[in-house]
Amino acid sequence: MREKIKEIFLESNNQFISGEDISKRLDISRTAVWKQIEKLKEEGYQFEAVRKKGYRLLNNPDDLSPKIIINKLKTNWLGQNIIYYKEIESTQKESHELAKRYFTNGTVVIADRQTNGKGRLGRTWHSEKGKGLWFSIILRPEFGYQQAPLITLYTSIMIIRTLEKLYKIGLNIKWPNDIYYDNKKIAGILTELHGEQDKIDYLIIGIGINTHITEYPIAIKDKATSIESIIKEEPNRVQIITKLLDEFEQNFNNFNDTGFDSFYDEYNKALLWKDKRVTIRNLSNTYDGQLVGIDHNGYLCIRTDTDNSVKVISGDIEFL
Ligand code: BTN
Repeated sequence: MREKIKEIFLESNNQFISGEDISKRLDISRTAVWKQIEKLKEEGYQFEAVRKKGYRLLNNPDDLSPKIIINKLKTNWLGQNIIYYKEIESTQKESHELAKRYFTNGTVVIADRQTNGKGRLGRTWHSEKGKGLWFSIILRPEFGYQQAPLITLYTSIMIIRTLEKLYKIGLNIKWPNDIYYDNKKIAGILTELHGEQDKIDYLIIGIGINTHITEYPIAIKDKATSIESIIKEEPNRVQIITKLLDEFEQNFNNFNDTGFDSFYDEYNKALLWKDKRVTIRNLSNTYDGQLVGIDHNGYLCIRTDTDNSVKVISGDIEFL
């Protein structure tokens, strides 16, 4: 019932709505309407109440209801279908299930809290209630397997652009796809794919952005940061996700048609530890050397201490 009342106010374009009107539309008593409005106030909603006119919504708190996000989106396909959970094990896991059930390209699965958020390389992702944006995008791309690793690099550019535009903060990318501020991680991306031999069926792009965390669990205390810790103000999650989805869709045709060419310079400029000595570890090898940058295909190039040029497409990087 509260959700329905919320929707009525969200669709009202800040106009007054009388208690009687709501009670008729939902077929409930006026006392019930009043009680629900009091509950909404407890959740942080603010109303102006005027006799004979009714109630007018003054604000809405940082609420990730699909209606609120979709109302603000400028996209055609991305995020036009949003599945929201107050709590779920992992939006990534859920998106796989939904993609198998033919949920459409551009579906977004979002949760206020994840009980078992997944990070890269089998790590867990700390996803406290209301403290971040935890969501996954289902993509059914036209491009093939070769371009798939680049979508993660593309996503990191979109996150950086969004946060820099909104908060004027300078960010870096720790290859391949961790977003850093001042040597601490603020966001991460996990891309997983499912497909047949010659065609990708779907990609799931999981995005975790620390927005409101200010007290960190010991395990990530020295390694993580959040937008609130940086700007010293509460950020708005709805504003961030809508801007990010708009930005992602706006540039997607370009990425789809021309690959990473238009984003390559921007990526290399943001690359953390560029020209520094690093160690790269992947499943088969470990290399020590100078970080040169990425090439047009998304490979990371290193000049090793023995003066060899090495290129890797996946792995983990560490500062030496
Ligand atoms: C990483 O840096 O290790 C990747 C982190 C990805 C976390 C996001 S949060 C939303 C989505 N659901 C998950 O379980 N994981 C991703």
